[in-house]
Amino acid sequence: MNQILFPKAFLWGGAIAANQCEGAYLTDGKALSTSDVQPEGLMGKVIEREAGVGYLKDDGIDFYHRYAEDIALFAQMGFTCLRLSIAWTRIFPKGDEAEPNELGLAFYDKVFDELEKHHITPLVTISHYEMPLHLVNEYGGWLNRKTIGFYEKYSKTLFQRYGKRVKHWLTFNEINVSLHIPFTGVGIPNESPLAEIYQAIHHQLVASASVVKLCHDMIPGSLIGNMIAAMPTYPLTCKPEDVWQANLDNNKWLFFADVQARGYYPSYIQRFFDENKIIVDITPEDTLCLKNTIDFISFSYYMSGCATADKSKINTEGNLLHMVQNPHLKSSEWGWQIDPKGIRILLNMLWDRYQKPLFIVENGLGAKDVVEADGKIQDDYRIEYLKDHLIEVAEAIEDGVEVMGYTSWGPIDLISASKAEMSKRYGFIYVDRHDDGTGSFARSKKASFTWYQGVIRSQGKTL
Ligand code: BG6
Repeated sequence: MNQILFPKAFLWGGAIAANQCEGAYLTDGKALSTSDVQPEGLMGKVIEREAGVGYLKDDGIDFYHRYAEDIALFAQMGFTCLRLSIAWTRIFPKGDEAEPNELGLAFYDKVFDELEKHHITPLVTISHYEMPLHLVNEYGGWLNRKTIGFYEKYSKTLFQRYGKRVKHWLTFNEINVSLHIPFTGVGIPNESPLAEIYQAIHHQLVASASVVKLCHDMIPGSLIGNMIAAMPTYPLTCKPEDVWQANLDNNKWLFFADVQARGYYPSYIQRFFDENKIIVDITPEDTLCLKNTIDFISFSYYMSGCATADKSKINTEGNLLHMVQNPHLKSSEWGWQIDPKGIRILLNMLWDRYQKPLFIVENGLGAKDVVEADGKIQDDYRIEYLKDHLIEVAEAIEDGVEVMGYTSWGPIDLISASKAEMSKRYGFIYVDRHDDGTGSFARSKKASFTWYQGVIRSQGKTL
């Protein structure tokens, strides 16, 4: 490629999630969510909250009170898009109320005002790794069909209130991750039998499709997508058994996009269901509803992995999806394997499979940053990671793939999802807060701030 230049309409920005940045976990009528009872992160245990005992996520990075300052910094970097999520528990604290919570709705009005002021397009995730805890305790989460109705009502409320100015929506964050952490994804115990997990997932897929229709009916000119944790899996060797295993492993996460983008269950899943004695209750109405397909595919991409038919080689360290380490790749401090070429492979694969526009809504490097004596943070490792990935995105665009935009994960440091740590930082903006809860919450710019600003300003020419 001679010179990198991204399309004019390309959306540039970052992505955040309510439960990892807002804090104010019981403010203005908000009630407990599933995230609030996982203080060690989504890979940790589920606890009973005790009065007087607090956790890092309770205050997050205090985005609830500092959103204006943070959005102004995003604007300085030149963001044209911010992906953010709405906390369901601010709008319907318990999930089954007749009327929404006005204070919660008003908070996001203010956030959208601020984005509008800076000409930043919001991309809103309706549910990002949290749901009202009450729906879990009283109804059994997504295993109960009634939850579809609660989610529809919640979404309808959002479309009514914000539809005039929010045109880009995502239904569920990393919907495929429910297979690995069911409590976070579908509000059922992590030890649930596979049949129950798939039944709960089915309800969520129906809810997603139903809300796609609702969005199209209620918001003229809207675009609504899915969101999957994309984990391209390569065969560990060229042994046909390994190649087949990679195919099976890829189908585990592609299944979700297959249903959401094509509108029906793919044929391969039936054999998997039969072999695992899984019977999913799918009504004729569900089948009809699933035909409401998404407008674009969105995904997070952090790493690739390998598959082998040799079970003794499987090492799950550092990732959720039981992938085998690739001997040709380096890993982050958290064991996530860094593979820039993987994003080009992935973009081509998804484009060929679905022929729908693609949106990279998460990508980035979680690392420990050091604040030097003069206050500078020289995060060259982050610049290198993002640069290498963006170059491959540009290559994919040259390959003919339609890419709508790129929102890097955590443009401002926030609480990590998997282990609820502050020390795993992704930001261009440093937040003075630490794992032990100390810190002033002050924001400062890292070296990557100026670098990303340059990339956006030049539409990629400076890469
Ligand atoms: C994705 C999630 O899995 O990865 C985000 O959608 C999360 O919520 C991100 O923060 C990075 O994971 P972690 O555990 O490093 O925060």
